[in-house]
Amino acid sequence: MTAPANDTFLRALRREPTPYTPVWLMRQAGRYLPEYNATRARAGSFLTLAQTPSLATEVTLQPLDRFPLDAAILFSDILTVPDAMGLGLYFAEGEGPRFRQTAADESTIAALAVPDMARLRYVFDAVAEIRRALAGRVPLIGFAGSPFTLACYMIEGGGSDDFANVRRMAYARPELLRRLVDVNANAVAAYLNEQIAAGAQAVMVFDTWGGLLSTATYRTFSLASMRAVLAALRPGPDGRPVPTIVFTKGGGQWLDDIAGCGASAVGLDWTVDLTEARRRVGSRVALQGNLDPLVLLTDPATVAREAAAVVHAAGPAPGHIFNLGHGIVPATPPDNVAVLVEAVHRESRASRAVA
Ligand code: CP3
Repeated sequence: MTAPANDTFLRALRREPTPYTPVWLMRQAGRYLPEYNATRARAGSFLTLAQTPSLATEVTLQPLDRFPLDAAILFSDILTVPDAMGLGLYFAEGEGPRFRQTAADESTIAALAVPDMARLRYVFDAVAEIRRALAGRVPLIGFAGSPFTLACYMIEGGGSDDFANVRRMAYARPELLRRLVDVNANAVAAYLNEQIAAGAQAVMVFDTWGGLLSTATYRTFSLASMRAVLAALRPGPDGRPVPTIVFTKGGGQWLDDIAGCGASAVGLDWTVDLTEARRRVGSRVALQGNLDPLVLLTDPATVAREAAAVVHAAGPAPGHIFNLGHGIVPATPPDNVAVLVEAVHRESRASRAVA
């Protein structure tokens, strides 16, 4: 007998009541899992892993085989899109992502175009293969980087502590940054639409670096481009709109603006008080978050206590998806993740029983 499909995640995104709070974790497939490290070693590199649909499927399912998570997330990376634009993504050991070519000057930015989606075929093939492998167990989330966050990596050629060149460009050459972010928005919209066509049942936009901006430049360069992406999304194969999540790390002070950008849900980092966030957005959107990922580096009792605190802070209104406030860190003991998922389910069931 097949288990009934677990649709708590999709219901919570639509702000419908659920018997318990659904939970998934950013970076739930990753280096904290020994089986991930084994598959990655077999693949030879992170990029080969992400570009081989059968291997991407295998690692997407690994955390679900260990923990009763309520959603799967496509195993890929946000930097696949600038890579397909020709910038040449690579990972130098211990250094994080790098591009062979930056997009920081006028002529390079002028020459950028939305890539042929055929170059990202491996991602859409992975989405379809993961859906088949999941067989309805839980919904599959697709994702992309925000147009601004992609621009950050494209301008700097990799990660940075402060993305100083990007922030300077926002004031000194706003028309250049505008052009870069606009190309990225068109590329991200096409990319997410292909993921949706391939079977992604919700999509998330990761705006990891929007929180570095001033309020005015955030609105101009990050939020407006995410709004444009969301407005360009097509319905799923069943004709229904696909729920969307936007996550600006460090964006708590702009919560009201973000809640109006057209997303079904807003992701929150751990600096935001969930009770206050719910008061501010009312019933406009679902909220996703927001346990500090470092809580998972403590002991089981602390993990359970802090998970319960997040569940209670979210309050009784429907529309909370439990997550971390940012990605899980590689030093996380998997047993603490098991404790976390169990605590979220137990606490949220219990609080609904007394409500
Ligand atoms: O959440 C998941 O389980 C899905 C997979 C996923 C990855 N990257 C896999 C990955 C997702 C959703 C991402 C998004 C991503 N990638 C973001 C936005 C989210 C965030 O964390 O803020 C960003 C900024 C990137 C860019 C990126 N990719 C960085 C900065 C790094 C290096 C960081 C690190 O942990 O080493 C990557 C590599 C990467 N992407 C890894 C994984 C599992 C580690 C690669 C490895 O196995 O060595």
